Amino acid sequence: MKEIEAVIGESRYTIEIGNRLLLDSQRLKEKISGSGKCAVVLSNYLYDLHWEYLIEVLGGYTNKELFLMQDSEENKNYIYAENFLQGFAVKGLARDSLVWSIGGGVVGDFAGYCASLYMRGINIVQCPTTLLAMVDAGIGGKVAVNLQSGKNLVGSFHQPILVVSDTVFLSTLPDREIKCGLAEIIKHSLIGDAASMDILLKHNLESVKDESVLSELVYHSAKFKVSVVAADEKEEGLRAILNFGHTVGHAVESFMAYKDISHGEAVAAGILAESRISKEAGLLSADGLELVVDLLKRYDLFDNSINCGSDGVIEHMKFDKKNKENSVRFVLLKAPGEALYNQTVPNDIINRAVEETLA
Ligand SMILES: NC(=O)c1ccc[n+]([C@@H]2O[C@H](COP(=O)([O-])OP(=O)(O)OC[C@H]3O[C@@H](n4cnc5c(N)ncnc54)[C@H](O)[C@@H]3O)[C@@H](O)[C@H]2O)c1
Repeated sequence: MKEIEAVIGESRYTIEIGNRLLLDSQRLKEKISGSGKCAVVLSNYLYDLHWEYLIEVLGGYTNKELFLMQDSEENKNYIYAENFLQGFAVKGLARDSLVWSIGGGVVGDFAGYCASLYMRGINIVQCPTTLLAMVDAGIGGKVAVNLQSGKNLVGSFHQPILVVSDTVFLSTLPDREIKCGLAEIIKHSLIGDAASMDILLKHNLESVKDESVLSELVYHSAKFKVSVVAADEKEEGLRAILNFGHTVGHAVESFMAYKDISHGEAVAAGILAESRISKEAGLLSADGLELVVDLLKRYDLFDNSINCGSDGVIEHMKFDKKNKENSVRFVLLKAPGEALYNQTVPNDIINRAVEETLA
């Protein structure tokens, strides 16, 4: 087992990474000692896939209530959350109770949102089960649900007391979800995570799926995200670098109404477009851009046939939450591994880069 010690604001907790970690209920009980009843918020899809393992895991706890979540982006809303909160009350959860979230980023955000509200906030243990959630969504304490007007518009910061990334779950992840996680790992490597960059440059989409390689990547990438969040928990400065690739990426997803495109594919397109902007703005060298292209190609994230016009995407970038004073703010690369945040760029550079990427 590998461990990362996270010290974020007032919170201090461990992130555990390893195979079949959830089975050791004795160790986990010691880590959460003092907690009362547990509400286990579990993805119903994950339960179908791993029911034998999960029954064995849950058998280790007596004082628990199971809440199955139909995990989809549509259900990540506060009306569905009200059902869960009502369920917490009916089952007698109290201030010393604990929520265990077991699932991908949707379940983690949703369960975290519920835990942050119930009795003004109860503890949560995050058990991310997708690659993306292990390196990104499950790390950093942001919890939220969606509104019709946009994703993640209602939420708060609610740090977990423990994160358990049990890599046994990664065996059932389809390629599309592996690639979503890899897009975020590539992003981390380009903005400063040198250890992941080394690993990524030695592998490709097939060889990276080896459990030991994925665990190494989860460890380094999660550790990198912790270091950024620890320096700026509430996103007042440095944490903004984590948006690299997401200004264009979010605009692509939102323009396509979140259909026919995965988050990873949109982020990969965003990484490419924003690297091209970095080069056109005189920051990133041609060799630097070549490295970005190489990384995306290795993991089948380069030619993802995104078939959407650039005009609509450029229009959608104007609604990015991170914009200030009516100008689009970018994270740009000075070099692979070195990012600058809060950057503005002339419109003609943005237009050319987005057109070239989405052509
Ligand atoms: N809080 C944050 O800081 C943060 C950061 C990034 C993303 N997010 C949020 O995370 C969500 C995306 O998370 P995600 O990419 O994990 O997607 P997800 O939670 O939708 O999971 C993707 C799919 O994989 C399934 N799944 C989960 N674990 C599996 C496994 N082990 N094997 C097979 N299938 C499995 C899920 O049921 C789902 O169908 C979005 O809602 C996004 O807004 C939050």
